[in-house]
Amino acid sequence: MTQVKSAVPPDGEPVLGDMSSAEFRQWGRAAVDWIAAYMDGVEAHPVLAQVHPGDLLSALPAVAPEEREAFAEIFEDFQRLIVPGLTHWNHPSFFGYFAITGSGPGTVAELLSAALNVNAMVWRTSPAGTELEQRVVAWLRDLVGLPEPFEGVIQDTASTSTLTALTAARHRAYPLIRDRGWGALPRGRVYASAEAHSSVDKAAIVLGFGREGLCRIPVDDRFRMLPAALRDALRSDVEKGVKPVAIVATLGTTSTSSVDPVRELADLAAEFEAWLHVDAAYAGTAAILPEMRDLFDGWERADSLVFNPHKWLFTPLDCSILLTRSPAELRESTALTPEYLSTPEDEDVTNLMDYGIALGRRFRALKLWFVLRYFGARGLRGRLREHVRMARTFAEWVEGEEGWEVLAPVPFSTVAFRYVGAEVSEADRDARNLAIMTRVNATGRAFLSHTRLGRHVALRLSIGNLRTTEAHVREAWELLKTAALTVQGESD
Ligand SMILES: Cc1ncc(COP(=O)(O)O)c(C=O)c1O
Repeated sequence: MTQVKSAVPPDGEPVLGDMSSAEFRQWGRAAVDWIAAYMDGVEAHPVLAQVHPGDLLSALPAVAPEEREAFAEIFEDFQRLIVPGLTHWNHPSFFGYFAITGSGPGTVAELLSAALNVNAMVWRTSPAGTELEQRVVAWLRDLVGLPEPFEGVIQDTASTSTLTALTAARHRAYPLIRDRGWGALPRGRVYASAEAHSSVDKAAIVLGFGREGLCRIPVDDRFRMLPAALRDALRSDVEKGVKPVAIVATLGTTSTSSVDPVRELADLAAEFEAWLHVDAAYAGTAAILPEMRDLFDGWERADSLVFNPHKWLFTPLDCSILLTRSPAELRESTALTPEYLSTPEDEDVTNLMDYGIALGRRFRALKLWFVLRYFGARGLRGRLREHVRMARTFAEWVEGEEGWEVLAPVPFSTVAFRYVGAEVSEADRDARNLAIMTRVNATGRAFLSHTRLGRHVALRLSIGNLRTTEAHVREAWELLKTAALTVQGESD
């Protein structure tokens, strides 16, 4: 741990102004040293926080401090109270949900962006913030092989990107809705697969379609949306006078990373005049790999699509790219310019506030710029390829082990699998898999999460951290096998 001295100024100092630059230097350096040591020693921490609900709450004072506190104490408490209560997403054995990396260049950019504290809500409030965002989004569009009509903005999360895209879809279907609300407008519906992410439900709720206004379409045995079932649903709704507003295709679903047949869905979107949104929140960045492009076949026909550099492109949370072929519709769906936000150059520039719900926005483009330049496209491709290789190797180990099975194809870096063990009921299998996961996570050496596929519980191992090596994946596999033996032994 870095040793730092308290720097409380003498009594009587006026209670105005900010931290002095001398003190900022001292603590800024201490923080950077701490971060470097943390990154080097992250494996000393349990991946999953080994605490109980309420532990931190009971350790924190109920009332905010009236008098200033020494930074040394604040920093000490950060290490003593906060760090043990963290689940370490930067741990190389973090394999839950979708694994991520707060990379070095991204972290440095975050520090700078926090210090600059610029808000590029309109062009003049930070011209470089706006124009850097335009440039890095175009770089990424080109890197993933999408054509130029696509333009985009950075949002905080894929949930916001999808909400914003579906707001534009709703605007296309009901141009009067932004002024009049739903009123007597005919009912409309959004369509997504049974495996689509819950952020689509949330968007449907917020936009007034309601959860019943989101039609979940069944999937095939590889968890891909069934176009024939979608066609039936669209036809049946049209016959009932329900308007198809948007189809959401997922490239890289949350549970198994399955890939919907986007080209066929694009045909249906065209036939039924529905907006096509592609949710590639996790997998989209894999399109920078030429050998992966076939999996993205047809996504260039989308009206909008989202992918998250904060998921699988080593950019610290949060950073989501929303691209659209119809920036005008995206803009028209919500843009408003009250007098206090109008500027003389409004006609000549992009004002980012017009392309989303939030007015204020963090300078997210900076970290993306640092990451793209620091690793370079070649470096990014190499790292993604290695993650895919390790995931497939893990899947081979599981396949090759008696009593275990892989439950879905592994197109990217996520494996859905389970322990089948001896002949037991499906309910027992589910309980055993959850028990195995709980045991592995309790070791603090690896962290996995689970899902449900059809009626079965599945375990998931997702690789996305820059520090993960095959040795980490191997250790997770050994832990899983040991836990399975214990769980099996306990129930025999
Ligand atoms: C396919 C998919 N879409 C959307 C999301 C939501 O992402 P965010 O947390 O950026 O809102 C996720 C999260 O894992 C996801 O897997």
